Amino acid sequence: MARRNDHVLSLLGAMAALVLFAAAGAAAQGCAPGNLQPGRSFERCADLPELGASLYWTYHPANGTADLAFRAPQSSSGWVAWGINTERPSSMAGSSVFVASLGGDGGSVSVLATYLESTSPALANGTLKLDVPVAPLAEYAAGAYTVYVTVALPGNSTQQNTVWQAGPLSAGQIAPHPIAGPNVQSTMVLDFLSGGKSTALPNFDVHRRSLRSFRG
Ligand SMILES: *[C@@H]1O[C@H](CO)[C@@H](O)[C@H](O)[C@H]1NC(C)=O
Ligand SMILES: *[C@@H]1O[C@H](CO)[C@@H](O)[C@H](O)[C@H]1NC(C)=O
Ligand SMILES: *[C@@H]1O[C@H](CO)[C@@H](O)[C@H](O)[C@H]1NC(C)=O
Repeated sequence: MARRNDHVLSLLGAMAALVLFAAAGAAAQGCAPGNLQPGRSFERCADLPELGASLYWTYHPANGTADLAFRAPQSSSGWVAWGINTERPSSMAGSSVFVASLGGDGGSVSVLATYLESTSPALANGTLKLDVPVAPLAEYAAGAYTVYVTVALPGNSTQQNTVWQAGPLSAGQIAPHPIAGPNVQSTMVLDFLSGGKSTALPNFDVHRRSLRSFRG
C-alpha cells in the first residue's frame, strides 16, 4: 500500500514537472532571457501589443539612460524598427528609429539610425534626435531580429512615445511597411520605470524542487 502511494506521488511529481516544462516552453516566445545573446540580460520586458514584438530594458535613473533590446519576428527579406517619437504620440513622423535589416550579402545585420521627418522619410543614417551613447547593433536568428540600443531618454523622462514597425526590403533597400492593421497600431506610451514586467525568475526554486522529485 505504501509503495502504491509512493508511485502515485511520484506520478504527480512527474506531471507537475511536465506542466512546468510546458510553461517554460511557452515563455520561450516573447519575454524570455533565452531569446537574447548570451551574456545579455535586462531587468524588465514587455510583450508589445502588435507585430509579435517584445522590448527588454534596464533603466538607469542615475544617468537617465536605458539599455534595451527590441526583438521582432520577421523574414530575412524584411526589416524591423523601434524608436521614440520626441514630438507627439501615435505618430511615425517625428520618431527617431533604429532600423535593422540584413544586407545584400544576407550575412550581417546593419542598423540604420534615422529621424523620420515625414511619412516618406529620406532615411539618412545618423540623423537621430536622441542621444545614443553606445553604438547600436542587431542580429538575426531563429526568424527574428533583435536590436540592441542604449538611449538617453529624451527630457530625462521615463514616459516616452514609442513606435515599432516591420516591413519588406526591395532589392536590399528598406521599402514601405503595410499601412493598415497592426502596422498602423504599433505605438504606445511606455513607462520605463513601471512598464512591462520584471524578468526575475520567481518560480526557479519551485521548478528545481519538482525536477528533483521527478528524478526521484
Ligand atoms: C534624471 O532624473 C533622475 C531621477 O529624477 C535624476 O536622479 C537624474 O539626475 C537625472 N539625470 C539627468 C542626466 O538629468
Ligand atoms: C549609466 O549608468 C549605468 C548604471 O549606473 C552604467 O552601467 C552605464 O554605463 C551608464 N551609461 C552611460 C552612458 O553613462
Ligand atoms: C549607419 O552608420 C553607422 C555608423 O557609421 C554604421 O555602423 C551603420 O552600419 C550604418 N547603417 C547603415 C544601414 O548603413
